[in-house]
Amino acid sequence: MIVSATTVKKAASLRDEIRHHNHRYHALDDPEIPDAEYDRLMLELQRLEDEFPDLVSSDSPTQRVGDAAVSGFGSAQHELPMLSLGNAFSIDELQEFHRRVTDRLGLDERGDLIYAAEPKLDGVAVSLLYVDGVLVRGATRGDGMTGEDITHNVRTIQAIPLKLIGDDYPSRLEVRGEVFMPRAGFEAYNEAARAAGEKTLVNPRNAAAGSLRQLDPRLTAGRPLDMYAYSVGVTDGGELPARHSEIIDLLQGWGIKVCPERRVVMGIEGCLEYYENIGERRESLSYEIDGVVYKIDSLELQRELGFVSRAPRWAIAHKFPAQEEATKVESVEFQVGRTGVVTPVARLKPVFVGGVTVSNAVLHNIDELHRKDVRVGDTVIVRRAGDVIPEVASVILDRRPEGTQHIQLPVECPVCGSYIERVKGEAAARCTGGQFCSAQRAEALKHFVSRRALDIEGLGSKLIEQLVASGRLKTPADIFQLEKDELSSLDRMGEKSADNLIDSIKASKSTTFARLLYALGIREVGETTAASVAAYYGRLANLELATEEDLQLVPDVGPVVAARIRAFFAEEDNLSVIERLKEYGVHWLEMDPVLISTDGPLAGMTFVITGTLPTLTRDDAKGMIQDAGGKVLGSISRKTDYLLAGEKAGSKLLKAQNIDVVILDEHALISLISG
Ligand code: IVH
Repeated sequence: MIVSATTVKKAASLRDEIRHHNHRYHALDDPEIPDAEYDRLMLELQRLEDEFPDLVSSDSPTQRVGDAAVSGFGSAQHELPMLSLGNAFSIDELQEFHRRVTDRLGLDERGDLIYAAEPKLDGVAVSLLYVDGVLVRGATRGDGMTGEDITHNVRTIQAIPLKLIGDDYPSRLEVRGEVFMPRAGFEAYNEAARAAGEKTLVNPRNAAAGSLRQLDPRLTAGRPLDMYAYSVGVTDGGELPARHSEIIDLLQGWGIKVCPERRVVMGIEGCLEYYENIGERRESLSYEIDGVVYKIDSLELQRELGFVSRAPRWAIAHKFPAQEEATKVESVEFQVGRTGVVTPVARLKPVFVGGVTVSNAVLHNIDELHRKDVRVGDTVIVRRAGDVIPEVASVILDRRPEGTQHIQLPVECPVCGSYIERVKGEAAARCTGGQFCSAQRAEALKHFVSRRALDIEGLGSKLIEQLVASGRLKTPADIFQLEKDELSSLDRMGEKSADNLIDSIKASKSTTFARLLYALGIREVGETTAASVAAYYGRLANLELATEEDLQLVPDVGPVVAARIRAFFAEEDNLSVIERLKEYGVHWLEMDPVLISTDGPLAGMTFVITGTLPTLTRDDAKGMIQDAGGKVLGSISRKTDYLLAGEKAGSKLLKAQNIDVVILDEHALISLISG
């Protein structure tokens, strides 16, 4: 078939345009056109290539996923070895590195050396060979000399251009970098896999490695992979700049994706500042890293320093403390929380993990303890990510000693001896002792004084436990009767701390309705709910009188929360604590309640919502009804005017049919509102 010159030109210009948008989208994270427009360009090119198959070239954006699976991986020889990096695990080791470098270069140690600093990405190293700007080979690192040919798979990664942009690149250019799976992609992939009953991926690094080792590129194409380049290998036919950082910038200009967190820093101080800064932001990065890498920026100095065995002398990985370590379980105890929830806690042989010494790890609930089958004497993997509480990730079964025993939930509360109950459908087991249980009392007090509640500085956990044990503190109100003399006579409590504590107790008396409500520790009432209830009622007296039905008019409050709040204010003891708090001077500004519209097309009508609506969330629907003057309640009665029912509606729908409540779908609701 003869292809006209205009068609050839058209295809070429479409490809250039698509490459340009790929670059904006992937390498620069700054798209110029909406996705739909991009899709139209791709479709146009696809159609043209379908009509004129002679037009197809391997670097066309349509050619990412070949149809055929490969039968095995060919080997790929590296012209220049792919090196690894030396590691520094402490500041001392980093200083040692810096000293070696400056010694060798004959520089003053304090003299400023320019370093390129980058995150150490937790993925898989790859080599990408571009000949005349076209991607011809992708390879893994392998043993550094020989890797595996994974061209068919790297081609499917959108972040990797099949053709470079511009025309000033070396005719042979090997780009090296890390292929990784961003956290969000990893989560989304696993969620979909779980929903489909398929195998989930273990962690983002394994996920990236596994994805690149697929024989069928269509499988790799379905995995959300990404890549950042961090160096070049072979380069022929073209000059490159004299600094690492400049080369990386150039790569970006050619359409290769590079890490936005890379920086050029001065000397070892600059390196340490970078390490700390990245360390603080580690959890909020969209990809996983296990440290940072420092490279001497000048290529000339790099050449002068050379290599030792497999690693360059001019670069080092400064690792974050390990987030997982193995240690022994010495015992398993059951802790009782503020609302009586009984949580198993593993007491561990102390181990340094994620930068701190850990000797306790939570197991969340009894079901999890059983699922992981943690036993006393076991060697377990403890994980600590960011600032979260350390947890037992898994048991190393091979190291289980003989004679270990399965752990059972105790029948009685280890603190107060009350019966422990398990509520059907709840993961938690609960001590039924309520405020009789000193553990629950102590936890309730800790919550009351916590930063987002009454914020009483200086009244720490140990002190609260001590005061609860001696019977001095029973309820939050008792805090305001504490006196300086009795505090300063306590162990480890000097005059000064006692003074400070009395001051902060005094300061806490002036609070807000929302904080007070949160501090009271009503079950299911977190900070957000407390704030919306406080805004809605404005005054404590209004809230104390509110019925369950009324409470459900508050945004975010459903039948369960409403019942909890009602139950709390129905309890004499709770009311008397509040009275005493007021007596001792705890006060807050009372306001006018937020007005809920009482006119509008749905004024005076009550609604119940059930099932999944086609487009609105239940909160949206509730908001719309309230804005139109209607009320939304949690349960159906003869007084209900309408049931708004979506898919998978259950018992409420049946009940509504039985008692002749009018049933609406989303569409009908909208018509009703718009008249
Ligand atoms: S540079 C000669 N830069 O770490 C320098 N490597 O332990 C070679 N890695 O195989 C690598 N992030 O997979 C470099 N910003 C970064 C990196 C990085 C992750 C990996 C890479 C390499 C391993 C070396």
